[in-house]
Amino acid sequence: MILSIVVAISENNAIGKDNKLLWHLPADLKHFKETTSGHTIIMGRKTYESIGRPLPNRRNIVITRNSELALEGVEVYNGMEQALTQCRNEAEVFIIGGAEIYKHALKHASKIYLTRVHETYEADTFFPELEPESWTETQVEHYQPEAKNPVAYTFSILQRN
Ligand SMILES: NC(=O)c1ccc[n+]([C@@H]2O[C@H](COP(=O)([O-])OP(=O)(O)OC[C@H]3O[C@@H](n4cnc5c(N)ncnc54)[C@H](OP(=O)(O)O)[C@@H]3O)[C@@H](O)[C@H]2O)c1
Repeated sequence: MILSIVVAISENNAIGKDNKLLWHLPADLKHFKETTSGHTIIMGRKTYESIGRPLPNRRNIVITRNSELALEGVEVYNGMEQALTQCRNEAEVFIIGGAEIYKHALKHASKIYLTRVHETYEADTFFPELEPESWTETQVEHYQPEAKNPVAYTFSILQRN
């Protein structure tokens, strides 16, 4: 099974504030949907609350320490290892955040679908620093700001060396 991370990160490694995203980038939401549709997504309980519902056309898995949490349309597990065991027959599984879950997953992930948002934001949630020697960029697409997506951004894929 390939364990992949999907994340959008600003220039100062920010990913969120007040349990929300920091930007409105419809192009990135579309990219996220195309990347993850038809697959399994794993997220932390706070990210699930931020989204507010299971995402359609995907197997939704939420990780929490609360053994009583039950969510409709979602599989709930009390740890990452448990969640990954349940996914062992899948070809590729997508870790979609947030910071706590990325921190656990980064050790095991072999691929990162990275959106770099070329702006700096005040934030309370950050992605861990990536070790450049551990990753090779295998695809990259740069986009300039325009009316609907008012900041520059880059989609890339990183593969673990
Ligand atoms: N830019 C992006 O691409 C992106 C993507 C996703 C999220 N975000 C942002 O990230 C922020 C949320 O991130 P976050 O770090 O605060 O929260 P999070 O990682 O989404 O969720 C944290 C929660 O996950 C559960 N958890 C974490 N580790 C666990 C473990 N080892 N075992 C069992 N449960 C565990 C706990 O839930 P309980 O408290 O229920 O036990 C913990 O409170 C928001 O601002 C969101 O918008 C950004």
